[in-house]
Amino acid sequence: MFDCVRYAQKANSNTHILRLLRSMGVVTDAVSLGEIERALRAGYVPGTSAHEIVFTADIIDKTTLARVLELGIPVNCGSPDMVRQVGRAGRGHPVWLRINPGFGHGHNRKTNTGGPSSKHGIWHEEFEDSLGLVDEYGLSLIGLHMHIGSGVDYDHLHRVCESMLDAVRRANRPLQAISAGGGLSVPYRSGEPEIDIAAYHAAWNTTRLEAERITGSRMRLELEPGRYLVGNAGLLVAEIRAVKKVADKHFVLVDAGFNDLARPIIYGSHHEICFVTQAGSPVTGPTFPIAVAGPLCEAGDVFTQHDGGFVEFRDLPLPEVGDIAILRDTGAYGASMSSNYNTRPLAPEVMFDAGALTVIRKRQSVEQLLDLEADGMVLSAAR
Ligand code: LLP
Repeated sequence: MFDCVRYAQKANSNTHILRLLRSMGVVTDAVSLGEIERALRAGYVPGTSAHEIVFTADIIDKTTLARVLELGIPVNCGSPDMVRQVGRAGRGHPVWLRINPGFGHGHNRKTNTGGPSSKHGIWHEEFEDSLGLVDEYGLSLIGLHMHIGSGVDYDHLHRVCESMLDAVRRANRPLQAISAGGGLSVPYRSGEPEIDIAAYHAAWNTTRLEAERITGSRMRLELEPGRYLVGNAGLLVAEIRAVKKVADKHFVLVDAGFNDLARPIIYGSHHEICFVTQAGSPVTGPTFPIAVAGPLCEAGDVFTQHDGGFVEFRDLPLPEVGDIAILRDTGAYGASMSSNYNTRPLAPEVMFDAGALTVIRKRQSVEQLLDLEADGMVLSAAR
C-alpha cells in the first residue's frame, strides 16, 4: 500500500487521537503553529529523515516560520512567496511544492481546492518560477504534492495522476517523494459504499513507478487523508430539550448546535440521526417529518439541512424530551471546527477504545472563556 500515510490532523487534532495514530506508524501534517505544537505534544519527533511532521498551509507567518526552521520541519509551499520566505530565512531548508494543476473537485464548492477559483497551491503556470526560487535559495526539494479537494471523484483521478507526471517531467530532477494529498471520501449515508482504496492505490502506484522511471530516483508515495481515518469513528451525542410542532411538521431541539458541528450549516452535509432513550433503547413508533435543530440564536442552526440552507424534514420516530439524539460520522471536522459562538463552551470529547471510555478533552467552562477577557490590558493610554 502507500509507503507513508500522513494524517491531515485538521480533521480531528485531539492529541490522544494523534498519539493513537502515531502508534500505528502514521505520520502527520500540520497547517498551523498550533497543530505543530499538538503533534509535538503527541510525541511526533521533528527534524529527522522520517519527516514525521510536515507543515502545509497557504501562508506561513513569521512566528511559525521561525518555529519550523528551529525544528527542521519541512514546509509544503503553496505559493512562490512562501518559497521565497522560507528560502530567505532558511537556506537549504527542506520543502515540498504543492501544485494546483488547474482543476479540482470537492463534495461541495467550499471543499474544492483546485482550479482557477482556488486559493490553494502553486498555480501550475508558476511552477517553473517556483522551482527557480528553490534553486536560488538552495532549498532541498523533497517532493511534489497535489490535493485537489475533499471528496474523491474517480473521474478526476486519472487527470491528477497525469498532471503529477507532467510536473515531475517539468521538475526534471531526482525527487524523494510524491504526495497524492487527501480527500478520500467516507460513507455518510447508510448503504453508501466505501471507496475502493486498492484501486486508488493502484492508480497512484502506477504514477509513482512512471515518475521513478522519468527521474531515475526511488520515490516514496505519500497519502494525506483526514476524514478517511477518523470520519466514521465519531458521534455527536446531545440531549433533546424540546419537541415542538411547527405547522404540520416537528422540530426536535437538542443541546448541541453548529458551534459543536458546523458541517450541515456550512456545506449542507448529511449526518444520519437516530434517537434513543436515556436507558439506551431505540425510540420506535410511527414516523413523522422531523427537523433536528440546536440552541443557537440563528435560523440556520439546523442539523438537517441541504446546501443553501433549505431545511430537511426526515421521517423519524418522534422522541420525547429527555431522550438522546445521536448524530453519526462526526469524527472528522466535528470537534476540530467547533467554536464558542453564543458563549457556549467546547463540549467534552470521550474516546471509546477497546471497551474503555476515556475523557480525552474536558468540557470547557464559561469561566475559562471569561478569563481571557479579564483585566483589559492597556496598549496605549487615551489622550
Ligand atoms: N491535505 C490537504 C492539503 C487538505 O487541504 C486537506 C483538507 C486534506 C489533506 C484532508 O482532506 P480529507 O481527507 O479530510 O478530505 N471541513 C470540510 C473539509 C475541509 C478539508 C480541508 N482540507 C468538511 O467538513 O468536509
